[in-house]
Amino acid sequence: MMPLRGKRILLGVSGSVAAYKAVEILRGLQRRGADVQVAMTEVATKFVSTLTFEALSHRKVHTELFPESGDPDVVHVRVADWPDLMVVAPATANLIGKLANGLADDLLTCTLLAGDCPLVVAPAMESSMYGHPAVQKNLQHLRGRGVHLVDPEEGDLASGHSGIGRLADPEIIVTAVADAFKTSDDFTGKRIVITAGRTEEDIDPVRFITNRSTGKMGYAVAERAMRRGAEVILVSGPTNLDAPVGAKVIPVRTVSEMQKATGEVFDKADALIMTAAVLDFRPETVAPQKIKKSADGLSLNLIANHDFLVDLGAEKRQRIVVGFAMETENGLANARRKLKEKHLDLIVLNDLTVAGAGFGVDTNVVTLLESEGEPISLPKLSKLEVADRILDRLESYWAG
Ligand code: CTP
Repeated sequence: MMPLRGKRILLGVSGSVAAYKAVEILRGLQRRGADVQVAMTEVATKFVSTLTFEALSHRKVHTELFPESGDPDVVHVRVADWPDLMVVAPATANLIGKLANGLADDLLTCTLLAGDCPLVVAPAMESSMYGHPAVQKNLQHLRGRGVHLVDPEEGDLASGHSGIGRLADPEIIVTAVADAFKTSDDFTGKRIVITAGRTEEDIDPVRFITNRSTGKMGYAVAERAMRRGAEVILVSGPTNLDAPVGAKVIPVRTVSEMQKATGEVFDKADALIMTAAVLDFRPETVAPQKIKKSADGLSLNLIANHDFLVDLGAEKRQRIVVGFAMETENGLANARRKLKEKHLDLIVLNDLTVAGAGFGVDTNVVTLLESEGEPISLPKLSKLEVADRILDRLESYWAG
């Protein structure tokens, strides 16, 4: 899919160590069909040479407001008139400060001020700077002006410290760019039930068993389905995520709660997307009081939970049912078996052993399997983009 085919994008690179990641962003934009022009601040050119970007973009990189070669045009106005969208990645605290306050003392900041197109900004800096009230105020101001901000991630920073401030994954930034163009309503009139996150099963009043699912994949599907005009019912296990505005959220904790809530809304749905990590086992008994410690340790007897997707799949009739398969070995064979046993239209195979896939991260690496046709292995994509690929399949079923 080439969501950015024919789009002209100006990629602004400012002076952060993360400037090297802009190379991957450039490639990601090109892979989606965009024509990319790069503009850099002077400091950025100390981190990555203009030559790298020139070789990859096949365009001269803009760095100077008044190039000595005597360009008769006012460069920044010409550069600003060209793109359909501008993205600054990485954006330093200094660049964000200038942008928020209308300062323009070099080619990139002048271009950003002169431009009249959507703007995506991906900050990257030390946590202490990112958390500073001045930076937060500037970001808030930009958000209010309609700038699409791509929040930085937590992790190791150039200083050796760890915290929030790392530039978002290049795939996430590329998706944010594609998103900024997106207006679609292909799911208007469709009601989609999405289960998301982990489930919990109690051992006693203070302890429970659970799994590592954070709900990111399911919430991404919910966000995308909403954006495409669907009515979304999100049956969600415990999570720290904010549900997309407008989704109807049904919070649940245990498998039996999830089964009941999903069963109730399934009847009137057009599709069920079962991303939730449903626990296969639960303690046979839940102790009514806290279990006291004992030198002998404790053995838990776990019994099987009911796999309610099997039932819903069997009674789906015209509804579309999508399942997920999380595997650590024999992925394709296991997913194929689950597709059949659970009467699914589509199964999304996650291999937990692949880098960039699985729990807690914003990206995923999945294979889509249907009863007919070859498996489709997708590259590492943001979870939002994976969500769109899944929804694209639904769209094609509905389109007949
Ligand atoms: N699922 C379910 N109820 C369960 C277990 C799983 O509805 N008790 C659903 C999941 O939400 C997912 C699909 O079934 O959409 C596959 O889940 P997965 O954990 O990969 O597989 P299992 O069927 O549990 O098989 P196994 O544990 O052998 O991998």
